[in-house]
Amino acid sequence: RRTILDYKQIFIKALIIVFLLATARCQIRYSIPEEMRKGSFVGNVAEDLGMDAKRLKSGGARIVSSENNKGILVVNERIDREKLCGDVTPCSFSFEVILENPMELHRITVEITDINDNSPTFRNADIKFEISESVAVGSRFLLDTAEDADVGENGLQKYTLSPNEMFDLKQHSSPDGRKYAEMILLKPLDRETEPRLSLKLSAVDGGNPLRSGTVNVHVTVLDANDNPPIFNQPFYRAAVSESAVKGTLIITVNASDADDGSNGLVTYRFAKMTPEIADIFKLDEVTGSITLKGDVDYEKEKKYELTIEAVDQGGLTDSNKVLIEVTDMNDNAPVINVMSFSSPVPEDSPPGTTVAIINVNDADSDKNGHITCTIDRMLPFKIKSTITNYYALITDSYLDREVIPEYNITVRATDSGFPSLSNTTILRLKISDVNDNTPLFEENIYVAQIVENNSPGTSIFSVTAHDRDWNQNARVSYFLEETQINGNPTSTFVSINSETGVIYAVRSFDYEQMKQLEFTVKAQDGGSPPLSSNVSVNIQIQDQNDNPPQVLYPVQTAGSVVAEMVPRSADVGYLVTKVVAVDVDSGQNAWLSYKLQKATDRALFEVGSQNGEIRTVRQVTEKDLLKQRLTVIVEDNGQPSRSATVIVNVAVADSFPEVLSEFSDFPHDKDYNDNLTFYLVLALAVVSFLFITCLVVIISVKIYRWRQSRILYHSSLPVIPYYPPRYSDTLGTGTLPHTYNYEVCRTTDSRKSDCKFGRAGSQNVLIMDPSSTGTMHYVVITTEERKEF
Ligand SMILES: *[C@@H]1O[C@H](CO)[C@@H](O)[C@H](O)[C@H]1NC(C)=O
Ligand SMILES: *[C@@H]1O[C@H](CO)[C@@H](O)[C@H](O)[C@H]1NC(C)=O
Repeated sequence: RRTILDYKQIFIKALIIVFLLATARCQIRYSIPEEMRKGSFVGNVAEDLGMDAKRLKSGGARIVSSENNKGILVVNERIDREKLCGDVTPCSFSFEVILENPMELHRITVEITDINDNSPTFRNADIKFEISESVAVGSRFLLDTAEDADVGENGLQKYTLSPNEMFDLKQHSSPDGRKYAEMILLKPLDRETEPRLSLKLSAVDGGNPLRSGTVNVHVTVLDANDNPPIFNQPFYRAAVSESAVKGTLIITVNASDADDGSNGLVTYRFAKMTPEIADIFKLDEVTGSITLKGDVDYEKEKKYELTIEAVDQGGLTDSNKVLIEVTDMNDNAPVINVMSFSSPVPEDSPPGTTVAIINVNDADSDKNGHITCTIDRMLPFKIKSTITNYYALITDSYLDREVIPEYNITVRATDSGFPSLSNTTILRLKISDVNDNTPLFEENIYVAQIVENNSPGTSIFSVTAHDRDWNQNARVSYFLEETQINGNPTSTFVSINSETGVIYAVRSFDYEQMKQLEFTVKAQDGGSPPLSSNVSVNIQIQDQNDNPPQVLYPVQTAGSVVAEMVPRSADVGYLVTKVVAVDVDSGQNAWLSYKLQKATDRALFEVGSQNGEIRTVRQVTEKDLLKQRLTVIVEDNGQPSRSATVIVNVAVADSFPEVLSEFSDFPHDKDYNDNLTFYLVLALAVVSFLFITCLVVIISVKIYRWRQSRILYHSSLPVIPYYPPRYSDTLGTGTLPHTYNYEVCRTTDSRKSDCKFGRAGSQNVLIMDPSSTGTMHYVVITTEERKEF
């Protein structure tokens, strides 16, 4: 700064010198290189001006240093030409030396010459280029220029580029003389092989020695989409199970692109896609994974061939094929089709009869579609394969509709897959009936009872036969076998309802004539031919108390009197006589008892109730009447009971003539006297008899109807005959066996009317004849006695 001030002073003085210029005598010129050390000699001004050094001093030359009083110009300060002049050449400066006394003006010019003290330099340490690999050969790239402060030869002379194949260097000079360089591309760039280049640019000057500066040139090759994506396999092959669920990953395809960045970003897509396949598969466009989107079915489509494309962002593509094979799973159950089925089959079909033909199918293949058919082993059927996938269901044994009328045959078809699938179908086979069972009666032999005197048409009981067959084959009809009973056809006794099996009486039965009926009933079914079976039926006729007892002894005669004689000396318990009576009924109805109803002297006789013996009870005395008249009543044990009376005449006498005289008027005394009164009594009796009979008939009819309904209701029940406690005694007590049959005459008056009465028929209640006790008796007149009387 100080130096600059000095120079300013110098210039101010120089301005003063300007108008003195005309007076300037000479000019000195020096040339020194720059950068000389301080104190370096420039020139001897005094000598060069041709004057003494003292003159300079006196003259007041002030540029000379005080120490330097010899008029020598030296470098006071290091001079930098570049600083002083820059690019200006030549670089020089002048100053005036003014001397006073006399005034002299001298100009001194110092020229500074350049030395190569500066190297070419680049402004930046690095030069960076980003060049697309697609750039054309011959493209130029301007490089930074270097600066060299030196001038002339020492200035920048040329650029050089480090040796390489890709770029050449071309140097230019701008109009202002500045030198610059361009890189020229010699060959195409390829990022994929050489993404980066590092070069060195050097700038050299022409000094001696040479100075140079370098800069690194970094070339980054930018990517161009010059590479298509390439699949990493020539061909893809994958398998997917038909049971795979949606979303299952099948395969991942992969394509690579040598390009960088977005040019190397590959996406995937299906090419030539049908809508069906698009529904089944999904291709992830980023990852290239193919997943299942829909359902695959081996039975529909066994493989799929897909075309896929890989696309980079630049639109370059590659395509490839993916073969997806569907693997079979056992996903189809066998299907059973009944081709023919004959139901019902007759129960007499022989074993081996074909019942049904069955077809089985399975959509799966191989083992998964291999089917076996089975049925329950307990059934009397077999299943046999005739042709592949056809089965015949045949009977394995004889069938019996009566045991099992229908079968539910479960046919099961199973495939051989793992796990295996199966299907069943049920065949409902009916067995049709064949008439192979005879009707069978519920009992081996039927025994029934019917009370005698039944009314014709009474139902007795019913037989029932069952047939195990079906419908018409089981419709049982009942018939009477044509046999004879006592010489008459069975049908004259009984009839049978062929539908119901109810047996009816055709006539009224009489126990005293017929104790039982035996015949055969046939049951026949409606089959063709019909089957039948027999059963024997035994109808037992039960006794009714429809016969009154009959007195056999003492014999009752009309118009004659039989008398028993009792000696007056007879003791107590003397057997006077014995009343003998019989009853043609049986059992309790024939069990008789005797009672003394009336007696002339009750205290004298008694009747044995069991045996009918008449004995004296006390000693006979003289006072006892000769004629004793006893009325004995004989009753059976029926319900109600029937009775008969007998009059026993007893003569208490020691001799027969005594008796005879006494008895000769016995019956005749009152005979005529009684005749008139008899008719009166008879008329009265008849009137009352008719009245009571009417009454009784009405009641009887009522009771009969009621009983009839009871009998009908109970007729099928077995009838247990009742026997009185001492029934076994009956024979011992004088009752005659039933085999005696008597025809008896009953009369109101033995002499006036003889008439035969039939049996009371079914009206068993009519035995209560109220007038019979006193006015009716049985009389037998013997011829001998007629003669006697
Ligand atoms: C067979 O199946 C049918 C219908 O399910 C049923 O009504 C019938 O009782 C079955 N028969 C036998 C013998 O199991
Ligand atoms: C049934 O009885 C009749 C006559 O007594 C006889 O002809 C027939 O063969 C019998 N039938 C049977 C099945 O016993």
